[in-house]
Amino acid sequence: MTNKKIAIVTGAARGIGKSIAKKLTEDNYFVVVVDLDGTKPELIIDFLGKKDSEFIQCDIKNYEQVISLFKRVREKFGHIDVLVNNAGIIRDNMIWKMPKEDFDFVIDVNLKGTWLMCREAAKIMRDQKSGKIVNISSRAWLGNNRGQSNYTASKAGIVGLTRVLALELGKYNVNVNAVAPGLIDTDLTRSLPEKTMQELINAQPTKKVGKPEDIANVISFLVSEESRFITGQIIHVDGGRSIGSTIF
Ligand code: NAI
Repeated sequence: MTNKKIAIVTGAARGIGKSIAKKLTEDNYFVVVVDLDGTKPELIIDFLGKKDSEFIQCDIKNYEQVISLFKRVREKFGHIDVLVNNAGIIRDNMIWKMPKEDFDFVIDVNLKGTWLMCREAAKIMRDQKSGKIVNISSRAWLGNNRGQSNYTASKAGIVGLTRVLALELGKYNVNVNAVAPGLIDTDLTRSLPEKTMQELINAQPTKKVGKPEDIANVISFLVSEESRFITGQIIHVDGGRSIGSTIF
C-alpha cells in the first residue's frame, strides 16, 4: 500500500515510457509499469525505486489481461489518478507491400489497446470523479510519412478517441489529452534505416532528435493540477515538424 497518487504507464519497460515513469516517480507518484516485455522487470523497478513502482506484465491488446490488470490495481490501491497510454509499435511498408497482418497488428496494439485501457480507467475515474489520461499519438497522425498507412491510421484514431473521451469525461473532472511526439531517440527509431533517420532530421525545422525526457516533461505538466483547464488537446512535441517539412 502507498499514500501516493497512482499512475499507470504502458510500454514503460524502455524508451519514452520508461522516461515518463521516471519523471512521475520524481513527481511523487507510485507508478504501475505495464509492459508486454516481462523479461527484466527487476531492472526497471530498481531504476524507478522499489517503494515507488511495481511491474505488471500485460499485453494491452488482450481484453482479459487488461481487465485483470485494472482489477488488481483497483483492489490494491482503490483508485487510479493517472493513465499514460504510451505502448505502441510500428510495422512500416508501402501499402502495396503491406501484409494485412501488419495492418491488424498495429491497429490492435496502438488503437484497440489504447481504447481498452481508456475504457477500464474511465469506469474508475468516472466513479471517483477525478483523473488524468494522456494518450501518446505521434506527429505522424497528420499523415505526412509515406510507408505508415497503418501507423498513421492508428495514431489519428488515438486523436479522435482522445477528443471524444474529453467530451464524455469532462464533467466527471477527468482530463484527457494526447501528446504527439516527433522524432525521439529510442530503440523504436534506432531500428529505422540510417538514410530514413537522416531524412527525418533534415525535414525538421530544429534539425534535432528529441529525447524521451522532452516527452516526459510535458506529461508531467499534463497530469498536474496546473493543467486543470486543458482537455481534449493534442500537444505536438516534435521540434516543429508538424508545421511542415523544411526540405521542400
Ligand atoms: P519502444 O519500442 O522503445 O518502446 C515501446 C514499449 O512498448 C516496449 O517496452 C514494448 O515492449 C511495449 N509494448 C509493445 N507492445 C505492447 C503491448 N501490446 N502491450 C504492452 N506493451 C507493449 O517505443 P518508443 O519509441 O519509446 O515509443 C513509445 C510511444 O511513442 C509509442 O506509442 C510510439 O508510437 C510513440 N512515438 C514514438 C516516437 C519516436 O520517435 N520514438 C515518435 C512518435 C511517437
